[in-house]
Amino acid sequence: MNILVLGSGGREHAIAWALAKSPKTDKLYVAPGNGGTASIAENVTGLDAEDGAAVLDFVQEHDIALVVIGPEAPLVVGVADVLRGAGVPVFGPDKQGAQLEGSKTFCKEFMMRNNLPTAEYLSTADEAQAHAYIDKMGAPIVVKADGLAAGKGVVVAQTAEEAHEAVSSCFEGAFGSAGNTVVIEECLTGPECSMLAFVSAGKAYCMAPSQDHKRAYDGDQGPNTGGMGAYSPVPIVTEDELKTMEDVMQRAAAATAVEFDHDYRGVLYGGFMLTPNGPKLLEYNARFGDPETQVVLPRLESDLVEVMLAVAEGRPDDIELSWADKWTVTVVLASEGYPRAYEKGKVILGVDDANELDDVMVFHAGTALNADGELVTAGGRVLNVTAMGETFQAARERAYEACALIDFEGKQNRSDIGLRAIKGRDSWA
Ligand code: AMP
Ligand code: GLY
Repeated sequence: MNILVLGSGGREHAIAWALAKSPKTDKLYVAPGNGGTASIAENVTGLDAEDGAAVLDFVQEHDIALVVIGPEAPLVVGVADVLRGAGVPVFGPDKQGAQLEGSKTFCKEFMMRNNLPTAEYLSTADEAQAHAYIDKMGAPIVVKADGLAAGKGVVVAQTAEEAHEAVSSCFEGAFGSAGNTVVIEECLTGPECSMLAFVSAGKAYCMAPSQDHKRAYDGDQGPNTGGMGAYSPVPIVTEDELKTMEDVMQRAAAATAVEFDHDYRGVLYGGFMLTPNGPKLLEYNARFGDPETQVVLPRLESDLVEVMLAVAEGRPDDIELSWADKWTVTVVLASEGYPRAYEKGKVILGVDDANELDDVMVFHAGTALNADGELVTAGGRVLNVTAMGETFQAARERAYEACALIDFEGKQNRSDIGLRAIKGRDSWA
């Protein structure tokens, strides 16, 4: 069958890579794709992934039997609704389900109604009320813009002053209309852990937990990024915590089927914090994580086309997941300056050498082919160097060995991905 993937990041390369392995896949399209997807699929340029009608036209012209929506933006504007309305199997929730990610207030209310463990909070569009809540609760405290703010709308304030400033800047329009409402939250502590689940017709099929590294620099210092590296599974998670997170995902999936007009069909991503009082939800996302996908999908032994089609067609009982008993680590190679301003167009060398190492997969994020056919940087996060191993240490060492083979001007990466996991739980104390 012909399949269309929407998106251009490392996540979409990993999804396309897994779909391409299936004997069921005939023609694979990625819109717009990147330098990596170009080698396993046809990149589609000039198609606006957020324009449902345009995507539907493409689907009908190219006999597409499954559409996989990678990023949140097309989900939040309702591209899945348009396709589903025309009878096209879509992997990704409709607009209403995507509100779990698109509005933090919507998400918190969903969690509260369904007794899902999460931080105490206030959601308000009244600036004075927001300031008063901070005065009442004190610091540390977390201030979040309600809407999508490209991962930049959250301030973990160590002082009340910082929290007040965050509230003022939201209401002054720092995040546009995303900041018209703020969510102010109790500050939780502990390691973070992502739990992704395939959700369809009220059932959740959990993947192994994974852990992202959000800060730009070693030692979890520097500005927040889209994610600088990840690993899966997460060695520090206890059996009890795993059970709690799976139960939370299961109950959330069941709630989507009861509450929403159409049941949720796609990935539900639970962002948890493993607090001293058990796992608590920081957020839900309505899609695969990036770079979490790059460590989760390489371990999947089942046919991803079959899994995604079962999800898209509301046949959860047909979902079968089997996983390689291995560890995966991914290290992000970024452009100099990321997450702030950076230059593009630097020639990238060594990707083939890295890919030739056993159990190494280099997923492309911000790459493109220039007019001379050379692979060049085209984004902040450039490559996701992923390695599998029989042990966590082996996977980590292999990933860094592969990173060393790749070069481009200004290459920047963290050298401590996975280090805290090896040091153990106490390194989060
Ligand atoms: P979010 O976009 O809600 O995932 O928040 C981004 C990051 O802010 C999370 O990955 C956490 O590191 C941090 N964060 C969010 N909410 C809280 C909270 N209630 N307590 C402590 N840290 C938080
Ligand atoms: N890696 C964080 C996210 O995908 O939201």
